[in-house]
Amino acid sequence: MQLPDEAIVYEYQNLLVPQGEDWGPAAELRARQFLAPARLRALLPRLLQVRSQVAAERELQQPPPELQPLDAGFIDLPQQVLQDFRRKAEASTLGRVLAAANRLRDQVDRVVVLGIGGSYLGARALFEALRNSYHNELRPENRHRLPRIYFAGHNVDNDALQELLDLLQTTCVDPELREERWGAIVVSKSGGTLETAVAYRVFRREAAEYYGARSPRPRQLIVPVTGPTGKLRELCKADGYADDDILTIPENIGGRYSVLTAAGLLPAAVMGLDVRALLLGAAAMTQRFLEEPFERNPVLQYAGVNHLMAEEFGKPTRVLSVWSPKLEGLGLWYDQLLAESLGKQGRGPTPLTVVGPRDLHGRGQQHQEGTRDKVINNLVVKAPRAAPITVGMADRNEDELNPFSRKGLPDLLDAALRGTNQAYFESARPTANLVLPLLSEHIIGQLVQMLMLATVVEARLMGVNPYGQPGVEAYKRNVKAALRG
Ligand code: PA5
Repeated sequence: MQLPDEAIVYEYQNLLVPQGEDWGPAAELRARQFLAPARLRALLPRLLQVRSQVAAERELQQPPPELQPLDAGFIDLPQQVLQDFRRKAEASTLGRVLAAANRLRDQVDRVVVLGIGGSYLGARALFEALRNSYHNELRPENRHRLPRIYFAGHNVDNDALQELLDLLQTTCVDPELREERWGAIVVSKSGGTLETAVAYRVFRREAAEYYGARSPRPRQLIVPVTGPTGKLRELCKADGYADDDILTIPENIGGRYSVLTAAGLLPAAVMGLDVRALLLGAAAMTQRFLEEPFERNPVLQYAGVNHLMAEEFGKPTRVLSVWSPKLEGLGLWYDQLLAESLGKQGRGPTPLTVVGPRDLHGRGQQHQEGTRDKVINNLVVKAPRAAPITVGMADRNEDELNPFSRKGLPDLLDAALRGTNQAYFESARPTANLVLPLLSEHIIGQLVQMLMLATVVEARLMGVNPYGQPGVEAYKRNVKAALRG
């Protein structure tokens, strides 16, 4: 198990109006486009009030109608899951997640995770951030015999699904060999989401054909994760699953806040991630949020700064610029969290994830000189996990890189980030850095909890409900009606 490592820092000073700057056209622009420190100070009492409100909402058993739905269970979840595990070990939620994960890891070489939206993006973000980028291509011994991971059930694309089925059919021929067995995790809190339900039906059929209609294997190798009630639970029970074999997403935790429930923890444990470190990081962030003053509280800082930029400084486009391709999945998870939580009542910032330097050669132009409607939060990893790859000396120097021979890729990345921030600063484009000391379970646990808490704080500042997604429910109803029609 990992020890807690360093903490996340939100560096937002770069988007404050510089104090005492000499007058000039650029300074004038910055004074209008950047955040006035006094405005941030003025928001502080309101931010602290919202923090108290969010803390109090955790205790509400019968929320008043204006607060419904209220799904604040994610806030204390990490601490509760860890405590429960210490007390009840295998009988606890985490104990059952680890047992199901061990079973899958022991018995199969491929796991398909079925789910959509909040029931998919968290697991995918963890996989991309914390596993080798070529995990599925590695030989079993080089991936510690951990299963390969695939994601499905978030599209209804015929050919994409067929390609995955073809892969399973051509690589899994003898169900008696572990290396040729596959399993699945099906995640749907409501149990009624069409895309996931259809995919589950297809994979159940596939499993029955491969393992045999009477074989117990489909039940052992397909693990359902769902809410306390709903069609998926009913279907699984009819299929012979015991209640204990179905992992539960608590009623008071919504899909996009569920990454640290079994919805994210089970896939994470199957991938071989240290799920206790994830939870410890998240629990530490909740504590920081509840107890630390603004100066040491990245949740309040991030929520306050971004709220003001969106609501008062005309920057409704929220760019998360991730400076590692391994964090793109995390960016897409955040896009969904922000869009579905705040995009209500004709309001809410528009999230956009870009990857640096890749997207500098595209969107970078627009960010530098396009509409002034953006605030850019860089998500930066300070230290790589592997030893730095250097440019190195070469006999031929037509590329003129020999002067940089001793520089490593981390130096290049740092130069690209600083150069970009400087260019944006000079043209009065606000940027801030969310700095992760490294990519580890403990840090990613902190990060997801921080972003979930900040989203709730922002929603309360705006006066919208961060929970529930009435717009998405409308589309879900229409799809079913269209199918019937
Ligand atoms: O955040 C949410 O609640 C949604 O994005 C859901 O996760 C998504 O609609 C999938 O729902 P379900 O888990 O019920 O299948």
